[in-house]
Amino acid sequence: MNPVVDYLRISLIDRCNFQCQYCMPEGAELEYIRKQEVLTDAELLTLLREVFIPCGFSRFRLTGGEPLLRPQVVSLVQQIAALPETQDLSMTTNGFLLADLAQGLYDAGLRRINISLDSLEPEVFNRIIGNRGRTRWQQVWSGIQAAHRVGFDPLKLNVVVIPGVNDHEVLDLAALTIDRHWHVRFIEFMPIGNGNLFGDKGWIDSETLRQQIHQRWGLVEARVRGNGPADVFQIPGAKGTLGFISQMSECFCDRCNRMRLSADGWLRPCLLNETGQIDLKTALRSGVSTRELCAQVQVLLDLKPAINFKQRESGTVGTYTRTMSQIGG
Ligand code: GTP
Ligand code: 5AD
Ligand code: SF4
Repeated sequence: MNPVVDYLRISLIDRCNFQCQYCMPEGAELEYIRKQEVLTDAELLTLLREVFIPCGFSRFRLTGGEPLLRPQVVSLVQQIAALPETQDLSMTTNGFLLADLAQGLYDAGLRRINISLDSLEPEVFNRIIGNRGRTRWQQVWSGIQAAHRVGFDPLKLNVVVIPGVNDHEVLDLAALTIDRHWHVRFIEFMPIGNGNLFGDKGWIDSETLRQQIHQRWGLVEARVRGNGPADVFQIPGAKGTLGFISQMSECFCDRCNRMRLSADGWLRPCLLNETGQIDLKTALRSGVSTRELCAQVQVLLDLKPAINFKQRESGTVGTYTRTMSQIGG
C-alpha cells in the first residue's frame, strides 16, 4: 500500500550563509530567486490553509537554503504553528543564527529542530562549509546548546559523511548521544550538484558506519521510527539515538511520505525527480482559484507513487535542475 503523503517540506528561502560544498558547490553559478518571486508569508499561509491542508497535509518542515535568513521567520513560524490542522512543525537549519533565535522559535510554537553539524573539528568544519575566514563552528555549537536549553525535543544533528573529510569523526559524533538526549544522524553523501568536489571517493554506506560503532560500544535497534527515512539505532544505555539515512545504499522511496515546496512556489513530488512539478505561485498570482490548485495537487498526489525516484532501480541520482540548497534537502 502507498504511504499517506502528509508531510510538506517548505523551503523559506534559497539563500544560505554557509556554502556547504555538498549542497551549494563552490564555483557553481547559483542564480538566486529574486525577492519578488519568493512566496510572501500571506501567499504561503493561503496555500497551506486552502490547498495543502485540504489535500491532507498536516506536518510541515521549514527548510532553506538557511530558513533562519528569512525575514520575520519567527512570526511566520508562529502563524503556521497556530493553524489548527498543523500536527507537526519542524525546521532544518545550519544553526548559525540559532543562539539568538532559539527561544523565540520555541515560544512561537516550533518544537522539533534538525541542525547540521558535520564536524566537531573547527578546521574540518570550515572546509566543509566553504569558509576560509574565522571559524563558525563555535557559533553553531552555541546554537545547538541554546536549542537544547530552551527545550527542543527531539533535537537532531545531521552529519553528511564525506569520505576522507569527516569520516574519521564518526565515533566522536556518535559519542555525543551517550550522555545527551540528542539524535545524531549520519547521512550518506549524495553526489548532487558537484559530487566530485571532494575527490572521487564517493560515499560511505551506513552499514560500514554501524559496524564501526558496533565494534566500539555495541549497537541495538531503537524502537522508534521518525517521520523521515532514518533507520534508528542506539548505543546500549545511551540517552540519545543514532539515525542512518541511506539514500545511496538503500531505497526508501516506497515509503516516501513527502512533497517539497520551493521558496518560489514550485511543488515537486520528489527530491530527485521533477516530473509533474506545479508552479503554484504563478497560478495563485494569476488568479487561479485555490480550489483549482487543490485539484491539481490532488492529481500530483495520485501520480506520486509512479514518480517516486526509486534510485536503486535507476542506478543514478536523478534528474534535477536545482541544487540541494535550492530544494531544501
Ligand atoms: P524528520 O525525520 O522529520 O526529523 O526529518 P528528516 O530526516 O526527513 O529531515 P532532514 O531535513 O533532517 O533531512 C535529513 C536528510 O535526509 C536530507 O538531507 C536528505 O539527505 C535526506 N532526506 C530527507 N528526505 C528525503 C527524501 O525524501 N528523499 C531522499 N532521497 N532523501 C531525503
Ligand atoms: N547529500 C546528503 N545530504 C545533503 N544535505 C545537503 N546536501 C546533501 C547531499 N548532497 C543535507 C544537509 C542538511 C539537510 C537539509 O540536507 O546536511 O542536514
Ligand atoms: Fe521520496 Fe523521491 Fe526521496 Fe525517494 S528520492 S524518498 S521518492 S523524495
